[in-house]
Amino acid sequence: MLNYKPAISAENVSVRQDGRTILEDVSFEVKEGEFIAVLGPNGAGKTTLFKVLLGLLAPESGKVRVLGGSPRRGARDVGYTPQHRRLETDLALRARDIVGFGLDGNKWGIGFGSRKRDAKIDKVLDEVNACGLADAPVGRLSGGEQQQMFIAQALITDPRILLLDEPLSNLDISHTQEIVALLSGICRNRGVTIMLISHDINPLFHTIDRVLYIANRHAVMGSPEEVVTGETLSALYGSKVEVVRAAGRIFVAGAEI
Ligand SMILES: Nc1ncnc2c1ncn2[C@@H]1O[C@H](COP(=O)(O)OP(=O)(O)OP(=O)(O)O)[C@@H](O)[C@H]1O
Ligand SMILES: [Mg+2]
Repeated sequence: MLNYKPAISAENVSVRQDGRTILEDVSFEVKEGEFIAVLGPNGAGKTTLFKVLLGLLAPESGKVRVLGGSPRRGARDVGYTPQHRRLETDLALRARDIVGFGLDGNKWGIGFGSRKRDAKIDKVLDEVNACGLADAPVGRLSGGEQQQMFIAQALITDPRILLLDEPLSNLDISHTQEIVALLSGICRNRGVTIMLISHDINPLFHTIDRVLYIANRHAVMGSPEEVVTGETLSALYGSKVEVVRAAGRIFVAGAEI
Protein backbone atom coordinates (compact mmCIF):
# COMPACT_ATOMS: atom_id res chain seq x y z
CA MET A 1 0.00 0.00 0.00
CA LEU A 2 1.22 3.48 -0.79
CA ASN A 3 1.82 5.50 2.36
CA TYR A 4 2.59 8.67 0.39
CA LYS A 5 1.15 10.65 -2.46
CA PRO A 6 3.49 11.23 -5.38
CA ALA A 7 3.84 14.91 -6.25
CA ILE A 8 5.22 14.05 -9.67
CA SER A 9 5.30 10.80 -11.56
CA ALA A 10 6.52 9.72 -14.96
CA GLU A 11 5.72 6.30 -16.35
CA ASN A 12 7.57 5.05 -19.42
CA VAL A 13 7.83 8.55 -20.81
CA SER A 14 9.46 9.14 -24.20
CA VAL A 15 9.99 12.59 -25.67
CA ARG A 16 10.98 13.45 -29.22
CA GLN A 17 12.13 16.78 -30.60
CA ASP A 18 12.60 17.31 -34.35
CA GLY A 19 12.33 13.57 -34.98
CA ARG A 20 15.04 12.75 -32.43
CA THR A 21 14.37 10.81 -29.24
CA ILE A 22 15.58 12.90 -26.31
CA LEU A 23 14.13 10.85 -23.45
CA GLU A 24 13.20 7.19 -23.73
CA ASP A 25 11.15 5.09 -21.37
CA VAL A 26 11.81 7.34 -18.39
CA SER A 27 10.02 6.40 -15.17
CA PHE A 28 10.31 7.94 -11.72
CA GLU A 29 8.23 9.15 -8.82
CA VAL A 30 8.83 12.18 -6.61
CA LYS A 31 7.17 12.16 -3.19
CA GLU A 32 5.54 15.24 -1.77
CA GLY A 33 8.07 17.33 0.12
CA GLU A 34 11.14 15.69 -1.42
CA PHE A 35 14.21 17.63 -2.52
CA ILE A 36 15.50 16.10 -5.76
CA ALA A 37 18.67 16.99 -7.67
CA VAL A 38 18.41 16.43 -11.42
CA LEU A 39 21.86 15.70 -12.83
CA GLY A 40 23.21 14.85 -16.26
CA PRO A 41 25.43 16.15 -19.06
CA ASN A 42 24.65 19.01 -21.45
CA GLY A 43 21.92 18.02 -23.87
CA ALA A 44 20.75 15.06 -21.75
CA GLY A 45 17.18 16.32 -21.64
CA LYS A 46 16.92 17.87 -18.17
CA THR A 47 15.31 21.11 -19.34
CA THR A 48 13.18 19.09 -21.76
CA LEU A 49 11.86 17.05 -18.82
CA PHE A 50 10.93 20.26 -16.97
CA LYS A 51 9.05 21.47 -20.07
CA VAL A 52 7.06 18.25 -20.00
CA LEU A 53 6.28 18.70 -16.28
CA LEU A 54 5.20 22.29 -16.99
CA GLY A 55 2.82 21.20 -19.72
CA LEU A 56 4.82 23.06 -22.38
CA LEU A 57 5.79 19.92 -24.25
CA ALA A 58 3.78 16.72 -24.71
CA PRO A 59 5.59 13.41 -24.47
CA GLU A 60 5.35 11.08 -27.43
CA SER A 61 4.32 8.24 -25.15
CA GLY A 62 3.98 7.44 -21.48
CA LYS A 63 2.12 9.05 -18.63
CA VAL A 64 3.05 12.12 -16.60
CA ARG A 65 1.19 13.22 -13.48
CA VAL A 66 1.81 16.42 -11.56
CA LEU A 67 -0.08 16.78 -8.26
CA GLY A 68 -2.44 14.07 -9.36
CA GLY A 69 -3.37 15.57 -12.75
CA SER A 70 -1.99 16.09 -16.23
CA PRO A 71 0.67 18.82 -16.48
CA ARG A 72 -0.96 22.20 -17.10
CA ARG A 73 0.59 25.37 -18.49
CA GLY A 74 0.58 28.22 -16.01
CA ALA A 75 -0.45 26.06 -13.04
CA ARG A 76 0.01 28.24 -9.97
CA ASP A 77 0.82 25.13 -7.93
CA VAL A 78 4.09 24.82 -9.83
CA GLY A 79 6.78 27.49 -9.54
CA TYR A 80 9.53 27.55 -12.16
CA THR A 81 12.82 29.36 -12.64
CA PRO A 82 14.18 28.96 -16.18
CA GLN A 83 17.81 28.31 -17.11
CA HIS A 84 20.21 31.10 -18.18
CA ARG A 85 18.40 33.93 -16.54
CA ARG A 86 20.63 36.87 -15.91
CA LEU A 87 19.32 40.38 -16.21
CA GLU A 88 21.87 42.93 -17.38
CA THR A 89 19.41 45.70 -17.78
CA ASP A 90 19.22 49.44 -17.50
CA LEU A 91 15.43 49.19 -17.45
CA ALA A 92 13.84 51.02 -14.57
CA LEU A 93 12.69 47.78 -12.98
CA ARG A 94 13.15 47.07 -9.31
CA ALA A 95 13.45 43.64 -7.75
CA ARG A 96 9.89 43.96 -6.44
CA ASP A 97 8.58 44.49 -10.01
CA ILE A 98 10.23 41.28 -11.23
CA VAL A 99 8.94 39.33 -8.22
CA GLY A 100 5.44 40.75 -8.80
CA PHE A 101 5.45 39.41 -12.38
CA GLY A 102 5.01 36.00 -10.73
CA LEU A 103 1.46 37.07 -9.88
CA ASP A 104 0.64 38.08 -13.46
CA GLY A 105 -0.43 35.68 -16.15
CA ASN A 106 -2.47 33.63 -13.76
CA LYS A 107 -5.88 34.30 -12.32
CA TRP A 108 -4.57 34.55 -8.82
CA GLY A 109 -3.14 38.01 -9.39
CA ILE A 110 -6.34 39.48 -10.75
CA GLY A 111 -8.21 41.57 -8.26
CA PHE A 112 -5.16 41.90 -6.06
CA GLY A 113 -5.06 45.51 -4.91
CA SER A 114 -1.68 47.19 -5.03
CA ARG A 115 -1.37 47.25 -1.21
CA LYS A 116 -2.07 43.53 -1.02
CA ARG A 117 0.26 42.92 -3.93
CA ASP A 118 3.07 44.87 -2.27
CA ALA A 119 2.54 43.05 1.02
CA LYS A 120 2.73 39.70 -0.77
CA ILE A 121 5.94 40.75 -2.56
CA ASP A 122 7.50 41.91 0.71
CA LYS A 123 6.55 38.66 2.41
CA VAL A 124 8.06 36.47 -0.27
CA LEU A 125 11.24 38.58 -0.50
CA ASP A 126 11.58 38.20 3.25
CA GLU A 127 11.21 34.44 2.89
CA VAL A 128 14.23 34.36 0.58
CA ASN A 129 16.19 36.67 2.92
CA ALA A 130 16.12 39.47 0.38
CA CYS A 131 13.77 42.12 1.75
CA GLY A 132 16.61 44.63 1.55
CA LEU A 133 16.67 44.20 -2.23
CA ALA A 134 13.03 45.10 -2.85
CA ASP A 135 13.67 48.53 -4.33
CA ALA A 136 17.06 47.84 -5.91
CA PRO A 137 17.28 48.24 -9.71
CA VAL A 138 17.50 44.68 -11.03
CA GLY A 139 20.47 45.34 -13.31
CA ARG A 140 22.53 46.15 -10.26
CA LEU A 141 21.88 42.89 -8.40
CA SER A 142 24.62 40.25 -8.28
CA GLY A 143 24.04 36.78 -9.72
CA GLY A 144 23.23 35.39 -6.27
CA GLU A 145 20.82 38.21 -5.49
CA GLN A 146 19.09 37.72 -8.83
CA GLN A 147 18.66 34.03 -8.00
CA GLN A 148 17.03 34.99 -4.68
CA MET A 149 14.74 37.32 -6.62
CA PHE A 150 13.79 34.65 -9.19
CA ILE A 151 13.12 32.13 -6.43
CA ALA A 152 10.88 34.72 -4.75
CA GLN A 153 9.08 35.22 -8.08
CA ALA A 154 8.52 31.45 -8.38
CA LEU A 155 7.31 31.25 -4.76
CA ILE A 156 4.81 34.09 -4.91
CA THR A 157 1.82 31.94 -5.87
CA ASP A 158 2.52 29.61 -2.91
CA PRO A 159 3.34 26.66 -5.17
CA ARG A 160 3.54 23.11 -3.90
CA ILE A 161 6.27 22.26 -6.39
CA LEU A 162 9.35 24.25 -7.43
CA LEU A 163 11.19 23.37 -10.64
CA LEU A 164 14.55 25.16 -10.66
CA ASP A 165 16.67 24.95 -13.81
CA GLU A 166 20.33 25.45 -12.82
CA PRO A 167 19.82 28.04 -10.08
CA LEU A 168 23.37 27.42 -8.86
CA SER A 169 25.22 28.08 -12.11
CA ASN A 170 27.65 30.99 -11.96
CA LEU A 171 27.50 31.24 -8.18
CA ASP A 172 30.59 31.04 -5.99
CA ILE A 173 30.78 28.47 -3.20
CA SER A 174 29.40 30.66 -0.43
CA HIS A 175 26.45 31.92 -2.51
CA THR A 176 25.80 28.37 -3.70
CA GLN A 177 25.66 27.23 -0.08
CA GLU A 178 23.33 30.10 0.81
CA ILE A 179 20.90 29.26 -1.97
CA VAL A 180 21.00 25.53 -1.14
CA ALA A 181 20.29 26.32 2.55
CA LEU A 182 17.47 28.64 1.55
CA LEU A 183 15.88 26.01 -0.70
CA SER A 184 16.35 23.32 1.91
CA GLY A 185 14.42 25.49 4.38
CA ILE A 186 11.62 26.05 1.87
CA CYS A 187 11.43 22.31 1.29
CA ARG A 188 11.63 21.21 4.95
CA ASN A 189 9.61 24.00 6.59
CA ARG A 190 6.92 24.52 3.98
CA GLY A 191 6.82 21.02 2.54
CA VAL A 192 7.42 22.32 -0.98
CA THR A 193 8.60 19.60 -3.38
CA ILE A 194 11.75 20.73 -5.18
CA MET A 195 13.43 19.47 -8.33
CA LEU A 196 16.69 21.31 -8.99
CA ILE A 197 18.87 20.86 -12.08
CA SER A 198 22.61 21.09 -11.47
CA HIS A 199 25.90 20.08 -13.03
CA ASP A 200 27.52 19.58 -9.63
CA ILE A 201 26.34 17.14 -7.01
CA ASN A 202 28.80 18.36 -4.37
CA PRO A 203 26.92 21.31 -2.85
CA LEU A 204 23.73 19.24 -2.79
CA PHE A 205 24.92 15.80 -1.71
CA HIS A 206 24.06 16.06 1.99
CA THR A 207 20.90 18.13 1.55
CA ILE A 208 18.88 16.38 -1.12
CA ASP A 209 16.75 13.30 -0.61
CA ARG A 210 17.35 11.70 -3.97
CA VAL A 211 18.94 12.16 -7.37
CA LEU A 212 17.37 11.83 -10.80
CA TYR A 213 20.29 11.23 -13.13
CA ILE A 214 19.60 11.61 -16.85
CA ALA A 215 22.06 10.49 -19.52
CA ASN A 216 21.99 8.66 -22.82
CA ARG A 217 18.17 9.21 -23.10
CA HIS A 218 17.53 7.26 -19.90
CA ALA A 219 17.13 8.14 -16.23
CA VAL A 220 17.82 6.51 -12.88
CA MET A 221 16.58 7.68 -9.54
CA GLY A 222 17.81 6.86 -6.06
CA SER A 223 19.74 8.18 -3.10
CA PRO A 224 22.98 10.01 -3.99
CA GLU A 225 24.93 7.08 -2.52
CA GLU A 226 23.06 4.62 -4.76
CA VAL A 227 23.11 6.61 -7.98
CA VAL A 228 26.46 8.39 -7.98
CA THR A 229 28.55 5.24 -8.22
CA GLY A 230 30.77 3.91 -10.98
CA GLU A 231 28.54 0.88 -11.43
CA THR A 232 25.23 2.75 -11.78
CA LEU A 233 26.62 5.54 -13.96
CA SER A 234 28.54 3.13 -16.23
CA ALA A 235 25.29 1.25 -16.85
CA LEU A 236 23.42 4.52 -17.51
CA TYR A 237 26.01 6.08 -19.83
CA GLY A 238 26.78 2.75 -21.50
CA SER A 239 30.51 3.34 -21.04
CA LYS A 240 33.03 3.14 -18.23
CA VAL A 241 32.51 5.85 -15.64
CA GLU A 242 34.39 6.11 -12.37
CA VAL A 243 33.34 8.00 -9.29
CA VAL A 244 36.24 9.27 -7.23
CA ARG A 245 35.97 10.73 -3.75
CA ALA A 246 38.81 13.00 -2.73
CA ALA A 247 39.21 15.94 -0.37
CA GLY A 248 35.58 15.61 0.67
CA ARG A 249 34.37 16.00 -2.90
CA ILE A 250 32.95 13.67 -5.51
CA PHE A 251 34.35 13.60 -9.02
CA VAL A 252 32.78 11.77 -11.93
CA ALA A 253 35.53 10.63 -14.31
CA GLY A 254 35.07 9.34 -17.84
CA ALA A 255 31.84 11.22 -18.55
CA GLU A 256 30.44 14.70 -18.57
CA ILE A 257 28.10 15.43 -15.70
N1 LIG B 1 12.79 22.96 -29.34
C1 LIG B 1 13.67 22.01 -29.66
N2 LIG B 1 13.72 21.48 -30.89
C2 LIG B 1 14.60 20.52 -31.20
N3 LIG B 1 15.49 20.00 -30.34
C3 LIG B 1 15.50 20.50 -29.11
C4 LIG B 1 14.59 21.51 -28.69
N4 LIG B 1 14.82 21.79 -27.40
C5 LIG B 1 15.84 20.98 -27.03
N5 LIG B 1 16.24 20.20 -28.04
C6 LIG B 1 17.31 19.20 -28.00
O1 LIG B 1 17.02 18.28 -26.97
C7 LIG B 1 18.22 17.86 -26.32
C8 LIG B 1 18.06 18.06 -24.83
O2 LIG B 1 18.04 19.47 -24.56
P1 LIG B 1 17.87 20.03 -23.09
O3 LIG B 1 17.84 21.49 -23.20
O4 LIG B 1 16.71 19.35 -22.46
O5 LIG B 1 19.20 19.49 -22.39
P2 LIG B 1 19.73 19.77 -20.93
O6 LIG B 1 19.94 18.44 -20.28
O7 LIG B 1 18.88 20.75 -20.25
O8 LIG B 1 21.18 20.40 -21.24
P3 LIG B 1 22.00 21.60 -20.53
O9 LIG B 1 22.70 20.97 -19.36
O10 LIG B 1 22.98 22.01 -21.58
O11 LIG B 1 21.03 22.67 -20.17
C9 LIG B 1 19.34 18.67 -26.95
O12 LIG B 1 20.01 17.86 -27.88
C10 LIG B 1 18.64 19.82 -27.62
O13 LIG B 1 19.34 20.24 -28.75
MG1 LIG C 1 19.11 22.66 -19.61
